[in-house]
Amino acid sequence: MNSPQPEEMVVVLDFGAQYNQLIARRIRECRVYCEILPHDTPLEQILARRPKGIVLSGGPSSVYEENAPTVPPEIFEAGIPVLGICYGMQLMAHVLGGKVRPGEQREYGRTDLTVLDERGLFQGLNPRLIAWMSHGDRVEEVPPGFVPTARTGSALAAMADYERKLFGVQFHPEVVHTPWGMEVFRNFLYQQCQCSERWTPASVVAQLVAAVREQVGKAKVACALSGGVDSAVTAALVHRAVGDQLTCVFMDHGFLRKGEAEQVVQTFRENFHVNLIHVQAQKRFLDRLAGVTDPEKKRRIIGEEYAAVLEEESRKLGEVQFLAQGTLYPDVIESGTRQAARIKTHHNVGGLPETLKLKLVEPVRYLFKDEVRAVGEELGLPGEIVWRHPFPGPGLAIRILGEVTEERLEALREADAIIIEEIMAAGLYRRLFQAFGVLAPVKSVGVMGDQRTYGNTVIVRAVTSDDAMTADWAHLPYEVLGRMSTRIINEVQGVNRVAYDISSKPPATIEWE
Ligand code: XMP
Repeated sequence: MNSPQPEEMVVVLDFGAQYNQLIARRIRECRVYCEILPHDTPLEQILARRPKGIVLSGGPSSVYEENAPTVPPEIFEAGIPVLGICYGMQLMAHVLGGKVRPGEQREYGRTDLTVLDERGLFQGLNPRLIAWMSHGDRVEEVPPGFVPTARTGSALAAMADYERKLFGVQFHPEVVHTPWGMEVFRNFLYQQCQCSERWTPASVVAQLVAAVREQVGKAKVACALSGGVDSAVTAALVHRAVGDQLTCVFMDHGFLRKGEAEQVVQTFRENFHVNLIHVQAQKRFLDRLAGVTDPEKKRRIIGEEYAAVLEEESRKLGEVQFLAQGTLYPDVIESGTRQAARIKTHHNVGGLPETLKLKLVEPVRYLFKDEVRAVGEELGLPGEIVWRHPFPGPGLAIRILGEVTEERLEALREADAIIIEEIMAAGLYRRLFQAFGVLAPVKSVGVMGDQRTYGNTVIVRAVTSDDAMTADWAHLPYEVLGRMSTRIINEVQGVNRVAYDISSKPPATIEWE
């Protein structure tokens, strides 16, 4: 599927720093569409997108190294405003005749910054600011035509050539530790690039719906719903675009959260009137998992069974030519711009079989997760779906350590629902990346009334994270943990103990299997 073609866009050239996706997210938060392109994208290709601005990102290299990534000098002569961030600023200085040297000491973390020139990027900001730094090299001499616009201690922190609209900042305006960084982006985008706030949820929906219509024509489309936000928004977009040409397949493998299946069926079949095949395969999956305790074996069996059931179901679909899939922009960026292979161990159940030879429709391919949520709200999807925490494809089966049985599923589903209810009641749901219960494979002794019990253990897991690659255990208030524990032990049959997981990722993972 082609990328959207909004009237205004900004290009971010990726030089490999870890914060680069954040740059794009901040620009989109300013309601300006932008795309991240590899740093070696030919200049003609960049200009062909008619960008209103170009951002050169940070990166791990040094400009004076052999084979350091660079840009052709013509990029600065195209009449397009350019913002260089960290390595991007050093590169701008280096290419245009300034001097870049290794710093005697690295500047890292919170640093006092003094604004020298309030025009340009610092308009409307306090002249004394706290900036977030992370660099070794520094610009010692600005290139001809530039003036220094900010300093930290004795070092140059920003520069500008107002004539050519070229700007460099040594600090990171994209990170949350630089709270006024959004102002820097706004100044660059609105004042210098003359962009306006056109990338709104309503305009995104209109563009994506038009693009799906154009791609699909009169053909039929299938979409596998998982209950998660990405596939739900994808289905809702495709439905808005081509109505009854879409059929959704929702597989209930029996490992979903409490009320999840009902929610999906209600939303799509009853509210949106989408053609929906609700595959009730709970028994098939449970039968195949009987006696299985090894985590990888569970995942493999679930993956195989999923493909087998979908294959059977898809034969009933008739003449389908397209498959709608909820691929997100971070996956596209990772595969397009990163040289290093990504470590991905998750077998993502959810796709229809390859043997069907379907063409892909990926309407949210250029969106970040927060944008997918905004689009979901714009399309009228319920908050429970739009804001629901991520959930692994194999579902509760990999949160029940040891054998998965109907009884254990029921216990975990109830405990998990209590955990979520208490987190919502405390107003913490959206601040957490994920919160859920895990059923441990051990029993322990307890006492209830005057009776000895020998019952199950539920482990509460709650984490904060940006992207699931790293995660911190959440510091939930004791009162919230206390209420969860009391309710789980009182309300869930067979559970007499609740524990809280205080491990971060790495070295632990978010899920237990
Ligand atoms: P871990 O446990 O590796 O999980 O820290 C990272 C994120 O991925 C989710 N997860 C999965 N998602 N299929 C998925 O679609 C899977 O098999 C799977 N396993 C883990 C997990 O919930 C977390 O958000």
